[in-house]
Amino acid sequence: MVLYVTKKGSKYYPSKAMKEQAWVNNPNIYKEADKNPVKFWSNLAKEGINWDKLWGEKNTYVEKLPYFWWFKGGKLNFSVNALDRHLGNPNKIALKWIPENPKEKPTELTYSELHKKVCQFANVLKSFGVKKGDAVSIYLPLIPEAAIAMLACTRIGAIHSVVFSAFAPDALKTRIQDCEAKVLITADGYFRRGELVDLLTKAKKALKGTKIKKVIVANRIKKKKYSGKFVSFDKVIEEQSPFCEPEMMNSEDPMFILYTSGTTGKPKGVIHDTGGYAVQSYWTTKWVFDLHPEETMWCTADIGWITGHTYAVYGPLLNGATTLIYEGTPDYPNMGRWWKIIDDNKVNVFYTAPTAIRMFIKEGDKWVKKHKMPSLKVLGTVGEPIDEKAWKWYFSKIGKNRCPIIDTWWQTETGGTIINVLPGIGPFVPTIAGKSFPGTRHLIVDHKGNKKNQGFLAQKSPFTPGMLHGVWKNHKKYADTYWKAFKKYYDTSDGAIMKGNLIKITGRTDDVMKVSGHRLSTAELENAINKYKKVNESAVVPIPDKIRGQVPVAFVVLKKTKNDKGMEGKIKKHVDNTLGPTARPHKVYFVNDLPKTRSGKIMRRILKNLLANEEPKGLMTLVNPGCVDEIKEIIKA
Ligand code: WTA
Repeated sequence: MVLYVTKKGSKYYPSKAMKEQAWVNNPNIYKEADKNPVKFWSNLAKEGINWDKLWGEKNTYVEKLPYFWWFKGGKLNFSVNALDRHLGNPNKIALKWIPENPKEKPTELTYSELHKKVCQFANVLKSFGVKKGDAVSIYLPLIPEAAIAMLACTRIGAIHSVVFSAFAPDALKTRIQDCEAKVLITADGYFRRGELVDLLTKAKKALKGTKIKKVIVANRIKKKKYSGKFVSFDKVIEEQSPFCEPEMMNSEDPMFILYTSGTTGKPKGVIHDTGGYAVQSYWTTKWVFDLHPEETMWCTADIGWITGHTYAVYGPLLNGATTLIYEGTPDYPNMGRWWKIIDDNKVNVFYTAPTAIRMFIKEGDKWVKKHKMPSLKVLGTVGEPIDEKAWKWYFSKIGKNRCPIIDTWWQTETGGTIINVLPGIGPFVPTIAGKSFPGTRHLIVDHKGNKKNQGFLAQKSPFTPGMLHGVWKNHKKYADTYWKAFKKYYDTSDGAIMKGNLIKITGRTDDVMKVSGHRLSTAELENAINKYKKVNESAVVPIPDKIRGQVPVAFVVLKKTKNDKGMEGKIKKHVDNTLGPTARPHKVYFVNDLPKTRSGKIMRRILKNLLANEEPKGLMTLVNPGCVDEIKEIIKA
């Protein structure tokens, strides 16, 4: 087995073997890139991506804050870069799909097969009237049709909006309405711990009040005949020709929207454009995971999240590598499933979240001991700060002390990871994310924007090519969320500390939680709870959780003071039905009043203090300080 790391003092560095085969092994790259990031990205863009038309050099980066454009005037098609250009090697596996049931056969799609399906499906979309610039909603589990549908949108320049399949109908409806999609792609179901999940019924519930004219249903469970606006994916795709002329897009044309939680109740549609996103996805996948075309990458994230977009679908395909996706849960049929998948499929790059690792730690080493996983080369982590215990377990039990752990910091907004350590350079230090990716600049500031060693993490101009290009139909939200705090810097809403020349992320500084790595806003959850007919108002705060990182706790004021016994369960169920089980409160406390300032703002900080058994400060500013002791008693009881 190849040893990819060596230990020097308390830190890990790439071994000789790693340095020799890594795409990048010279630390000077950071300095070189920083001399002229625009030039640096311009060169990367030309080297990594096939353009139909190049941009004028002076248009490589145009900035007029809060907006900025990369490669303006350049033209390209994303799917050509992900598929067509690899057709010289048509039988190479592009996508490997592992169904949850271990007895069911995996599906392998070669580049040529995937290309054909994408073209056919692009023709399906066209036949249903989808045009360049139209939004298409995708509500699919982790099945090959998800990647096919996404890529088909990019073929014709339609803007996809993928909605996480565990989201509830209401959440899907809001997202369909916001982007005004006319076509929805969903599935008849999928498997979760051996149980059949009926996705189609959920999708149907979301349609009322939307402009959806066609629903294309992937046949995961059984082939079925559909009628009216519902059609079968397999059937409509068969009827189409295997080639679809790619639509050449402007670099700055939107490629997809992904809704994400912010500090208000309504999720915002983060827009990613085509050229910048392509360039950044290609290079970060190649360098940060050191992915080579002959290798297999497995990113466990669902396509409903940005990590699934960039590193389960787009990044590996842009690089002409093999991407593996798995339908089910890590514990089905037992806790060894993931490790068996790695062994059986010779996975080289494995990318997951700290919450999953903590879940495995709890189960002991029995399951991992059975698997040597000699194919592994690079391990990645994302979604929340990784604690030292999880890092070490991941390193020793999965990586068998051989593989670097790349702690990748990023956000839905940044499109790809932009703080990390490159495998050929190191060092790999537990709990530390690392450096700004070459050509990217971050700094840590206080609330006034002055540079500090500890404080808020911000990004400096030139802003990276993969960064969001606004919020869908909401300029104000874009300007206020990201550009109000520090004006000329992008506000990440994360806290950070400088450790030597490396960045350690400390977590969100706003009202956003990370529950099992999933992004959830307190406001969105409160909104959902407040819609329940018996609820007067509510406040939601996160508390630490050993496995899931954070979990939400709700404080609820009911309309009638009398509380019936089953109310907690009813509220939880209501959340399941409106947002989905990911958002379900861990605990609901029924209180008579919530701590509020004179202007009516709920002081969530005080609730957090009470839950942590800390003495809350600043009670003088409350209009109703009396409620604090009362809440304390309720928590204790
Ligand atoms: C957090 C996920 C610490 C962070 C790609 C960020 C991290 C939020 C890391 C974005 C990391 C992501 N270390 N924290 N390596 N990666 N985060 O939009 O708080 O779902 O702001 O994107 O996840 O979550 P999102």
